[in-house]
Amino acid sequence: MVQPISGLHHVTSGVGPAQEDISFFAEVIGQRMVKQTVLFDGDLPIYHLYYANRHAELGTVMTTFPYRQAGIKARKGSGQVKVTSYTAPEASLEFWFNRFEKLGVEHGDIEERFGQKRVPFMHPSGLEFEIVGDDNDPREGWVTEEITEENAVRGFHSVTMSVREISEQARFLTEALGYKMTGQEGDYYRFEINEGGAAKTIFLIHEPNVPSGSWTFGEGTVHHVAFGVENDEVLAKVKAHLEGLGYTDASDIKDRNYFHSVYVRSPGGILCEIASSDIGFAIDEPMERLGSQKLLPPWLEPRREEILSQLEPIVNPQIQKVK
Ligand SMILES: [Fe+2]
Repeated sequence: MVQPISGLHHVTSGVGPAQEDISFFAEVIGQRMVKQTVLFDGDLPIYHLYYANRHAELGTVMTTFPYRQAGIKARKGSGQVKVTSYTAPEASLEFWFNRFEKLGVEHGDIEERFGQKRVPFMHPSGLEFEIVGDDNDPREGWVTEEITEENAVRGFHSVTMSVREISEQARFLTEALGYKMTGQEGDYYRFEINEGGAAKTIFLIHEPNVPSGSWTFGEGTVHHVAFGVENDEVLAKVKAHLEGLGYTDASDIKDRNYFHSVYVRSPGGILCEIASSDIGFAIDEPMERLGSQKLLPPWLEPRREEILSQLEPIVNPQIQKVK
């Protein structure tokens, strides 16, 4: 049976200064900066920055809230997404290892798990990432002066959720979201959906002694992970399915301008979002100019000057080069 959830949609994390974050994702990792907007929730003015692959496809989308200006830090721990993983061709892992060495990015040695080689590395705010060697990912990366097509990251491979207990989180992934457990290696458990592989994989890591991390927005943690569904109709069905299983804290359907979303807290503590896939990033700027200007949803447009005047200035270096 084909599951209504297609796999990962986006990952959203709190980071430090906005320009440092842009430099990391757009220049060090070489993702395409595809949107400059703001956090839609609450009153605090905070940027919301989006990075993706060449075609801004869902399942490649990293989004960040730069919280340094507001001075709010989050606390890492269990009950959070611990690692966010990208794919790139296996032969590129040495390029990435050497690039992290050269640029002074904190990183580990190339290691192997579930038969796949990977390079772990860290965002300046302390977020953990890795690049997983995967030659079966057909998505196209964004190419920069320093990162060729053969080395470019394609999009997400997976996220690794840290949980103090496996069983109820495994039940959520399988019964609520439709994943299947497909392997275990030490403290790691692998779950895949539909055909599995890139963007269709989730890992749990069993960390019974790690205290719970914070649930708030703030610098230094992943706030939530989003899973894709085709459209609003499927989104409503998945929400009803979650509620029918007893996950009655599934939120109302929220308008995120580029998609519509439902949020649900999973038993291990990780906030999960289910998001529609039929709107996309080209609704308020053309595909070839994504990320070139500060954009607000229609309901915040009347407050544009008030909001943006409180935010630090930022530059998208990819757009500057196009000019
Ligand atoms: Fe989200």
